[in-house]
Amino acid sequence: MKSILVYFFIISSLMNIKSTAQNVVPLYKNSEAPVEERVEDLLSRMTLEEKIGQMNQFVGIEHIKAAEVSLTEEQLKSNTANAFYPGFSIDDLENLTKSGLVGSFLHVLTIEEANYLQSLAMKSRLQIPIIFGIDAIHGNANAPDNTVYPTNIGLASSFDADMAYKIARQTAKEMRAMNMHWTFNPNVEVVRDPRWGRVGETYGEDPYLVTRMGIQTVKGYQGDLNGENDVLACIKHFVGGSEPINGTNGAPADLSERTIREVFFPSFKAGVNAGAMSLMMSHNELNGIPCHSNDWLMTDVLRKEWGFEGFIVSDWMDIEHLYDLHATAENLKEAFYQSIMAGIDMHMHGIHWNELVLELVKEGRVPESRIDESVRKILAIKFRLGLFEHPFADEEFTMKIRLNPEHRQTALDAARNSIILLKNDGILPLSEKYKNVLVTGINANDMNILGDWSAIQKDENVITVLEGLKMISPNTRFEFVDQGWDPRNMLPEKVNEAAEKAKCVDLNIVVAGEYMMRFRWTERTCGEDTDRSDIDLVGLQNELIEKVAASGKPTILILITGRPLGVEKAVEKVDALVQAWEPGMYGGQAIAEILYGKVNPSAKLPVTIPRSVGQIQMIYNHKPSQYFHPYVVTSSEPLYSFGYGLSYTTYKYENLRLSGLEISKDENIEVNVDVTNTGKMDGVEIVQLYLRDKFSSTTRPVKELKDFTRVALKAGETKNVHFTITPDKLMLFDKDLKPVVEKGEFIVMVGSSSRDEDLLKESFYVK
Ligand code: BGC
Repeated sequence: MKSILVYFFIISSLMNIKSTAQNVVPLYKNSEAPVEERVEDLLSRMTLEEKIGQMNQFVGIEHIKAAEVSLTEEQLKSNTANAFYPGFSIDDLENLTKSGLVGSFLHVLTIEEANYLQSLAMKSRLQIPIIFGIDAIHGNANAPDNTVYPTNIGLASSFDADMAYKIARQTAKEMRAMNMHWTFNPNVEVVRDPRWGRVGETYGEDPYLVTRMGIQTVKGYQGDLNGENDVLACIKHFVGGSEPINGTNGAPADLSERTIREVFFPSFKAGVNAGAMSLMMSHNELNGIPCHSNDWLMTDVLRKEWGFEGFIVSDWMDIEHLYDLHATAENLKEAFYQSIMAGIDMHMHGIHWNELVLELVKEGRVPESRIDESVRKILAIKFRLGLFEHPFADEEFTMKIRLNPEHRQTALDAARNSIILLKNDGILPLSEKYKNVLVTGINANDMNILGDWSAIQKDENVITVLEGLKMISPNTRFEFVDQGWDPRNMLPEKVNEAAEKAKCVDLNIVVAGEYMMRFRWTERTCGEDTDRSDIDLVGLQNELIEKVAASGKPTILILITGRPLGVEKAVEKVDALVQAWEPGMYGGQAIAEILYGKVNPSAKLPVTIPRSVGQIQMIYNHKPSQYFHPYVVTSSEPLYSFGYGLSYTTYKYENLRLSGLEISKDENIEVNVDVTNTGKMDGVEIVQLYLRDKFSSTTRPVKELKDFTRVALKAGETKNVHFTITPDKLMLFDKDLKPVVEKGEFIVMVGSSSRDEDLLKESFYVK
């Protein structure tokens, strides 16, 4: 029977039957036909209006309702994080969906709403399913009742690309279980400015680390992009927004093509090569041209140079911003024109697209073939994801997948591996002798450990720091002095109360940092659109630390934050510093396990921590002349260096060996080193390999990470760690921006951080 059907489908396609006749199943609905044929068949049946609709996205109904309730119309106009379509009702949106004029929704947060909107699309003439997009940045955390893993900066601190893959795979399953098909992650931007509020959603400052994490994340989400457990990845934001001229999100980026190619392109190119089938443009202008109308980026580089075959989506209202912000288009229609002709494929989001793009095509300014190009790519993904066969998710089954024990365990493991010990005067791990412990600080007992890009989750699914401490050390008496969640509105009397209590206990734990939760959009201090002109602790937090530490009792500082904080003064006052980032649902447990030595910390910094805002730009992989004339009065050294992080054991590096002294340009070099756990506790060491091209035709960084690995070592154990340096790792862009490997000396550095004192060095020569 099946083969007869297949035969029928093939014949009908050969005859190009545009099937409106009853009983004839159109080719595009045949799941066994090749995707390309299904796409062409469907495209041939679509009206121009339907095609343009496929290129458009809307926010979901509940999102609109929530925005309407919580903000005034005036606020809605200027608040780009909420969506509202003046003069356009929810009925209008439903009718548009039923008419097959909406291609995608975003910010739909429940399976019920997703299935409902999909049921509307299924009433349309051609029944083209909706693709639902969501910012599943660290788990599908933006929607309630999903596993919340650490944010990307924490994940990067584990230097564990396999973990990135695993989390992405699990996230894909949780997404599909609630009818979500497309995640706006990984963010593969390279961070160059901690004032920028979005550091937490990136993998840090090193292009190689970002690249390795990004590749595995893309692969984890997409699988073979063919099954019911796969979702579409979206590498973003292209490009330069992570080095905004003043640190604020969406501000201009003014970057040389050399910097763009050396620093910002590699992770995107690698994402494309890893098979990412969607990409999001960046809010900012790049060297005077907004990214959303930048044909060099979209067409020349992405399509022609890199052969990107997926579709390009705009970021939130950014095509509109060509007109109402960048002012490079005189009106909306011109903005749509510029963006489409530069290469955009899908519009996030809004009501004017369908009408104005239709006019542009009818006027002959945008060829219909250009529309077809974009629609083909979007439809191909919908077919590959099986949406035509499985437009709905099972509401009965959904909670069997989401938050399942395996996923919860991964969230805990990832948190354990993401927390960095930066200072330890010997107090950690804590012994049972501290019977009475003061716990205080804005993040001591708050869900804020979930981080940016997370909805409020049920209490029972989050372990706060205080809860974690009680759980891991049940015999200790923890006294909690609540400082509220809001760093900007701390009360002096609460600070004083903590200072008084500190005198009566054996130990103080201050859990400080920033506030990231999205539901308090205008009150937070870190996250998207939440940039700072300094990197100090906000509010009375420094005072709290100072006063508590003045008790003379040992004090531990834990930082919950999505960006590096210049906590130099606070660090001097405390006995230990733990950088916990945004550790996710089990963050409190993982922190407590580390404090009490149940887990030996292993994570390392994926970003440099400057002492002050004045040191910015402070990156480890700077050019040789950066500190030729160091700062006067203040230090030119970072507070903590890239790759740095302590453990409860010690590691010794010996016998750095290279396979040769001289190689030709296309040969590999094998690197071996012995690493010994010289302490008393088992641990995991993150072994890092850096390179420096000693003399070169264009300037090169003083060192660049080129490889890393996590090595588990029992107390006393030695392991040989092996790396291969392949020729691509020696590449630079010459004066004409051509990639070349130049002859001469290369210095190999292997060790436990990017600091010179932590590295063994050997040289080899390229002939
Ligand atoms: C952000 C994107 C995000 C989009 C949808 C924008 O404001 O810049 O990263 O994917 O919103 O939520």
